[in-house]
Amino acid sequence: MPFPTSTDADPAAPRGDELAAVTRQHAELYLAGCYGDVLPGSARCVHADARVEVWLVGWAPGEWTGLHDRGAAAGAFTVADGTLLERVPVGWSDGWMSLRDIRRGAGATATFTRHHIHDLGTEPGAVPAVSVHAYSPPLPSVRRYEVAGGELVALRAETSDVSDASDTETLRWAS
Ligand SMILES: [Fe+2]
Repeated sequence: MPFPTSTDADPAAPRGDELAAVTRQHAELYLAGCYGDVLPGSARCVHADARVEVWLVGWAPGEWTGLHDRGAAAGAFTVADGTLLERVPVGWSDGWMSLRDIRRGAGATATFTRHHIHDLGTEPGAVPAVSVHAYSPPLPSVRRYEVAGGELVALRAETSDVSDASDTETLRWAS
């Protein structure tokens, strides 16, 4: 299955370390009480400009986004509270694809490049988590994937229109 390449990246786009600094900054604002309570299962855009969009996300125990990428948007996320699991596809030398979990505890920041595929969520018995996610360019699309029969399969693509979505509905745009 052909995957997009990264050869047409915008040279003026924020680098991964810049996006990581943005998510850390907003995580500190959340921890300082600037954003008030963040309900599990909610998502709120806390900053948007021409270059970057930042979301504050609350996670219920056992909640997962499903395997996805953000198209041409690179980004970063910081776990402000609780623990997230990042599930990523791993290709083996025999061609078999499987999924591997990476634990992201409070204070952890991860960056991702364009077309990075992952699933984010929390364990069923976990305490509710809060995280901050930045995307550049803003308003990224979402493509869904699954690993089936040892292969990574691309599913539907979705475009982002958060203007009239509820908090629950917007969660899928911010992970
Ligand atoms: Fe994501």
